[in-house]
Amino acid sequence: MTTASAPGKIILFGEHAVVSGATALGGAIDLRAKISVRDLPGSVLIKTEDLMLQGFSFDLTTGRLTCAQAAYATRYISAVLKEFDVRDMQVCIESRLPAAAGLGSSASIVVATVAAVSRHQGQCLSLREIAEISYRLEKKVQQGLGSPVDTALATYGGYLQISQDIRPLELPPMKMVVGYTKLPHDTKSEVKKVQELKKRHSDLVDPIFRAIGALSEKAVPLIKEQNIAELGQLMNINHGLLASIGVSSRELEELVYAARGAGGALGAKLTGAGGGGCMIALPGADGIEPLMVSLRQARGIPFKVQTGCEGVRLEGDL
Ligand code: PMV
Repeated sequence: MTTASAPGKIILFGEHAVVSGATALGGAIDLRAKISVRDLPGSVLIKTEDLMLQGFSFDLTTGRLTCAQAAYATRYISAVLKEFDVRDMQVCIESRLPAAAGLGSSASIVVATVAAVSRHQGQCLSLREIAEISYRLEKKVQQGLGSPVDTALATYGGYLQISQDIRPLELPPMKMVVGYTKLPHDTKSEVKKVQELKKRHSDLVDPIFRAIGALSEKAVPLIKEQNIAELGQLMNINHGLLASIGVSSRELEELVYAARGAGGALGAKLTGAGGGGCMIALPGADGIEPLMVSLRQARGIPFKVQTGCEGVRLEGDL
């Protein structure tokens, strides 16, 4: 058996503005997808162990059981199996990342599958090759939509500064809390909405994007120096600017305000495209627990995460 795992991601600063060329900052998180492959003569089988299952539908007339999470994961894995011309194999997925939440779950599944399948076939791909193949395959499944950021973070881990190019940054890990609204988010429609707003009101939106880009750049030395009080303030400003261009929602606001209020967060903002999906919060002096409680009380699902964690890794050839 060969097992590989890869991390999910959060965008710390700069979402949406990055689409128009401003700087953004992303970090890998320690919620991972794990893929195990083994020989299975005569068939190709995809199995799920634990996939953050969030509901399924059962059609009484056809007897068909559909699990949205499993169906989405299967599409990505099938693309990898086709790429590597796989036969006679069982692939098992375990993932702690919710799908369609902006945490990079599809990228981590693709990257871990590419790493596990290629190694099981006796190939020794470089990280660069894993990132390139994974980006191409994710984009194909998403019909041309994927950005290279998620697959790069799932492969290399750590932090990435994204502008015209993608640059790794040496920064220390940070403890944060992710709050999931339980609403799926739709990156394509949020990006379209914002880009249309920018077209109609470029005199207003351009300076907002410039300010967001400046926040992404100002955040880097603060993370380096672990000046988390200032960093929290920058997160709050970034959230306000994102709300001003219409990508927050009642559910996201409730989590953000719960985190800053009872949760004692030093800063909180939505992460990713917005609308639904997730927000992130930086714990204050009372630590992580009050934040977890406040997000649950605001009807979110909280996850403790560490940023800047390791990229794809083999879990050992057993
Ligand atoms: O929704 P996510 O986490 O995939 O992030 C999208 C980030 C955007 O800036 C809104 C779009 C992009 O491609 O950079």
